[in-house]
Amino acid sequence: MALREIRIFGDPVLREKAAPVAEIDDEVRTLAADMVETVTEAEGVGLAGPQVGELRRIIVVYPPPPAADEIRDEPRVFVNPEIRETGGPVESGEEGCLSIPGIYEMVKRPRRIRMHGVDLDGREIDLEVEGAIARIIQHEIDHLDGVLFVDRIGPMRRALLKKKLKAFLE
Ligand code: NI
Repeated sequence: MALREIRIFGDPVLREKAAPVAEIDDEVRTLAADMVETVTEAEGVGLAGPQVGELRRIIVVYPPPPAADEIRDEPRVFVNPEIRETGGPVESGEEGCLSIPGIYEMVKRPRRIRMHGVDLDGREIDLEVEGAIARIIQHEIDHLDGVLFVDRIGPMRRALLKKKLKAFLE
């Protein structure tokens, strides 16, 4: 396993669309293990392939602890994840991103999702989750399509953020 460099806002790879994983081979398993190590070291709650420069549809999700000091659960790896259904009210929740350090904004997303994907053993996963974990999965799947959480905030907040985001490009 190895730590991978986390790509930061302004890196064009974050704006590209990731390709589906055709086969779960050793290379994919190594990438997933590296992503787990990287997100753990960075103390993030999720990481997507493009964030480490790999345009493949893989995400790692850490179930968030109820308290900051609680030991975190095992991270889960989802290959080719997609949202099949959304439900519940649209809720605002604070998000940040390892690729946009220091920026936290409220983002509106559906409370509940049904996600389909496969795990590293090629087993199909059909997951219905809500709340924080559903938010993280939506955020990570956005990354696979080149979408960042700052794209999903209101125009006023976005205007206020403009200067801060520009600083990443310098
Ligand atoms: Ni992110």
